Amino acid sequence: MRIIRIFDTTLRDGEQSPGASMNVGEKLQLAAQLARLGVDIIEAGFAIASPGDFDAIRAIGAEVEGPVICSLARAKEEDIKRAWEAVRDAPRNRIHTFHSTSDIHLKYQFRIDRDEALRRSVQMTQLAKSLVDDVEFSPMDATRTDIGYLCEVIEAVIDAGASTVNIPDTVGYSIPHEFGDMIKAIRGRVKNIDRAVISVHCHNDLGLASSNSLSAVLNGAGQIECTVNGIGERAGNCSMEEVVMALRTRRDIFDADTNINTKEIIRSSRLVTKITGMSVQPNKAIVGANAFAHESGIHQDGLLKEKSTYEIIRPETIGLHRTKFVLGKHSGRHAFRTRLRELGYELSDDEINSAFERFKRLADQKKDIYDEDIEAVVSEELSRIPETYSLLDMHISSGFHEKPAAVVKLKAGGETVEKTEHGDGPVDAVFRAITSITGTRSRLLKYEVKAITGGTDALGEVVCSIEEDGRSVSGNGADTDIIIASAKAYINALNKLAARKRQ
Ligand code: KIV
Ligand code: ZN
Repeated sequence: MRIIRIFDTTLRDGEQSPGASMNVGEKLQLAAQLARLGVDIIEAGFAIASPGDFDAIRAIGAEVEGPVICSLARAKEEDIKRAWEAVRDAPRNRIHTFHSTSDIHLKYQFRIDRDEALRRSVQMTQLAKSLVDDVEFSPMDATRTDIGYLCEVIEAVIDAGASTVNIPDTVGYSIPHEFGDMIKAIRGRVKNIDRAVISVHCHNDLGLASSNSLSAVLNGAGQIECTVNGIGERAGNCSMEEVVMALRTRRDIFDADTNINTKEIIRSSRLVTKITGMSVQPNKAIVGANAFAHESGIHQDGLLKEKSTYEIIRPETIGLHRTKFVLGKHSGRHAFRTRLRELGYELSDDEINSAFERFKRLADQKKDIYDEDIEAVVSEELSRIPETYSLLDMHISSGFHEKPAAVVKLKAGGETVEKTEHGDGPVDAVFRAITSITGTRSRLLKYEVKAITGGTDALGEVVCSIEEDGRSVSGNGADTDIIIASAKAYINALNKLAARKRQ
């Protein structure tokens, strides 16, 4: 059986989703989870794009064990050298360089001819190969490129040292049988193709990214580029969980599998949602909230008799367990630590102590603590960043005939400041009070609240995204009181913005 490599680009193409930018700590946290998930290659960023990207790639290369760590680079000398500096210390590294090949791009964007694009592609592949062993080349907009010229470029970059050639459907234009035929044509026409792995990188503009990638596998592709939850530029990239589960579920068709530990899928999905603030639509395949919910009576009847009647994937396969009561206010540190290990978290003693304090406070407010609650507590702990502002206290009043008011006390710049503001609702009043204390000029892009588990005593999780001077960040907050969760999320976002400004 063939093993299809999973090249995860959540940290690069995924981060190109509007509002999905991540800081270095968040990227490290996600990269560690991708390693647990078992991806073969992590595209950790685009080294030349920003100092933050560069630092994140270096940190991931130094700390995350297992996958190959890769940086993207345009086919330009300065890009490739910067990518090399970013990945040079990673035990296994790769440079992924790319140049457009379609006439549309060459004529209107680059204003160069095909010969010049070929020359640049070859030269920069050679430069990358002089720095690292593992070089990937992408002819950007491949699916709108003349097939004869595309094959010529591919053959030349393989001769120049590329060991992976990636075929991007950059604008999500292709359809499955056409894309599969393209891979077949490349295999038939490129003389040295057996010296490289064929990779595919599909965008989802027509909702076909996963289908196109799978069609490519049927025609000989050996690597799929994808993102967790399918996030990415515009309509996103091929969704990791969809292609991985399609290959696993229909091995009879594909005769192929991946190295992915599917039990880590749901945790990876939730972490990406938490860090980027981008929720998954409820009916999303594999990781949507409804993906395993059976509503129809006929289906429920069948399921009760035999699961395979209406379930093609067992929820446990992707790490989804029916939430069960695990711990309560009388549970001790040892039980807490053990449960964390079972859930896959290895925390330092300091992190455990601080998460345990938070867990105890939660157990005072909420009788039953579920795995999801524990995960919320821990991920809050792991995503801590230096606090420019911290919430000391708050008080809200609102009612039928009362204008909502919020008194908020923050620690800001070493001082304790308290402000009272009114608003259209209690959340609005709280946000106004925080804005007035911090003097922020940021604009609220998104505010979302959801209950982590069922019941009126559930932890409420709030995600809010803000933007200032072109920088956008998202913050999270969890509490049994959703107004407090909202304040925490807004302050978390402001702290991230302050950290980004310092960077
Ligand atoms: O979509 C695309 O073409 C890309 C390339 C950089 C591979 O992201
Ligand atoms: Zn892309």
